[in-house]
Amino acid sequence: MEQDDFEVRPLRPGERALLHDLRARVLRPGRPPEESRFAGDDAPTTTHLGAFLGARCVAVASLYDEQGMRLRGVAVDPEMRGRGAGSALVRRAQAMAAEAGRGLWCNARASAAGFYERLGWAEDGEPFDLPHIGAHYVMRYPSPNPGSDRAAVDAQPLPGDERR
Ligand SMILES: CC(C)(COP(=O)(O)OP(=O)(O)OC[C@H]1O[C@@H](n2cnc3c(N)ncnc32)[C@H](O)[C@@H]1OP(=O)(O)O)[C@@H](O)C(=O)NCCC(=O)NCCS
Repeated sequence: MEQDDFEVRPLRPGERALLHDLRARVLRPGRPPEESRFAGDDAPTTTHLGAFLGARCVAVASLYDEQGMRLRGVAVDPEMRGRGAGSALVRRAQAMAAEAGRGLWCNARASAAGFYERLGWAEDGEPFDLPHIGAHYVMRYPSPNPGSDRAAVDAQPLPGDERR
């Protein structure tokens, strides 16, 4: 499929509306707007990434310092799917984690598990259900230093309340 040349960069403070708009449309359609705001969004350790085609933000994803590095809220504009925007964001997150010597994890929709697998992620454990959203897997992308203490911490099982 055609791959566009996306600019992937951290969102600026004044661009937060782009993040909430894409999350609401793609990840929480029909749900109250506050469900598109996630715990830790305003933490100084959090990075919100956008993929831009010219001036248009077509996809977003966020990285949190939470039980290691957590990828969350990967959302591609429905008009722009299948053109490489989602992969461009996840690859940037992978590069940021590798630079920090960390692995990554996410709660992946079962419908998107194949997308992450293509990028080198693996399912960890059994699927579980999130209310209003559906079946998910914990998925992990490996640390660049698999033998390190930090990698061992990052690989700890997640407590049940992280499953959101
Ligand atoms: C899943 C999603 C992030 C993929 O983003 P995208 O920009 O459309 O994906 P890309 O164009 O980068 O696709 C990369 C490859 O993965 C494949 N792929 C895309 N979505 C897939 C899916 N759901 N399952 C399996 N493979 C998928 C593509 O066919 C492509 O393969 P190719 O390299 O052989 O052409 C996007 O469709 C989306 O926002 N979906 C709705 C929300 C969602 O599920 N978010 C993830 C939450 S965990």
